[in-house]
Amino acid sequence: MGSEFHLRAVVTGETYAPDRVRYRADDGGLLEVALDQSSLDAGEMRRVLQDRLAHRGGVTASGVWRYREFLPPIPDDCVVSRREGNTPTYESDRLAAFTGVDGVRVKHEGCNPTGSFKDRGMTCGVSAAKWLGQTSVACASTGNTSASMASYAAVAGMKAFVFIPAGGVAAGKLAQAVLHGASVVQIEGNFDDAMRLVQEVCAEFGVYLLNSINPFRIEGQKAIGMEIAQDCCWQMPDWIVLPGGNLGNTSAIYKGLRELKAVGVIDRLPRMAVIQAAGAAPLHAGYIDGFAGEPRTVHGPDTIASAIRIGAPASWVKCVDAVRSTEGLVESVTDDEIIAAKRAVDTAGIGAEAASCASVAGLRRLASAGVVKRGDSVVCVLTGHILKDAEAAVGNYGIGESLADGAGVSFDPIVCQPTLESVRDGIARELGGG
Ligand code: F0G
Repeated sequence: MGSEFHLRAVVTGETYAPDRVRYRADDGGLLEVALDQSSLDAGEMRRVLQDRLAHRGGVTASGVWRYREFLPPIPDDCVVSRREGNTPTYESDRLAAFTGVDGVRVKHEGCNPTGSFKDRGMTCGVSAAKWLGQTSVACASTGNTSASMASYAAVAGMKAFVFIPAGGVAAGKLAQAVLHGASVVQIEGNFDDAMRLVQEVCAEFGVYLLNSINPFRIEGQKAIGMEIAQDCCWQMPDWIVLPGGNLGNTSAIYKGLRELKAVGVIDRLPRMAVIQAAGAAPLHAGYIDGFAGEPRTVHGPDTIASAIRIGAPASWVKCVDAVRSTEGLVESVTDDEIIAAKRAVDTAGIGAEAASCASVAGLRRLASAGVVKRGDSVVCVLTGHILKDAEAAVGNYGIGESLADGAGVSFDPIVCQPTLESVRDGIARELGGG
């Protein structure tokens, strides 16, 4: 199988055998999986991919492995899948009103098995680990990657180590990792410290690294873009808007769409808009300067959106290529804007964790600046589930506060005695009759 594909350095183009553990090129640069897709036929692929939507069992029932012709040819018996993907795409009048974009849709990646988009990359990463004969895996994480890796490692029977920044991970995510049996390494520092250390420790102990610098992770994550394309019947939207942290997701979605376009399954690329939290926005700083010079770093990144509290993104080079190649852009949004967007997403009945809602906040900002037009078609990626980061919500919604857009949500409970009379009074007051 080693001859069917290889690992390629994204900057130098140097290639390496895929069947030996390797995360970086000899010069330290990022790697990507290179797979010959030249024999694929667009019409045939569309038909096959459409047929597979009906699959209820087997590897191709997964919304990742459905695209297996575009993925590394890992044999079925090494595939570790939780039937991830197949996430819903919603339209919402409420979000159209909030963002100012009539054609906005949201792709809800929080509907994956562990509640975030990370499951797509993880199924491929853990399958690669199994194929490579690995028995232990590790990642640094702001929470979702660790929850996902812990789950998939448990399914595969592997030992899992999650490196987390102390105090920087939402309780729900940490609980997932612990409950799935991972060992938690708590670093008294931030995500960037954890990321640096996990790489060193993995090299020293021969533990398989499953952060998104692992090119197999990116392969699985490509399927978000591919599934958006399929959801849209291969007619690409004008924009895909998504939150940016470590920047693996942007890189992956772009790679997937680039490959679909090369085969002719889609005929154009959407523009990619990467949204960062203002307190953790190195890519945005780089974008403003035309990406001149070295990747930027923000020391002490700070935002309510803990999932994207990252100052030194690992996939910088790939992400810059994605932004440039799609005539995309990078925007940043304040925590207040993220909270307002989260309220809009939640009260629209959809719900997502704070970091996810950076995409919606970013779209609103871009639309009000006239960069995205009211009539443009846009898919915002909601990366994580509403229950992931409940503390952020509870801590930041003022009791009894109303939404800026007048949606009038109250977080005041109607406190009642356990009598019908008391409950009746409370409800009547709420309805304005009491
Ligand atoms: N949204 C959520 C909910 C995330 O968990 C992350 C990243 C992102 C967006 C950003 O994606 O890193 O590919 O640019 N979470 C990682 C983690 C860092 O450890 O769970 P990215």
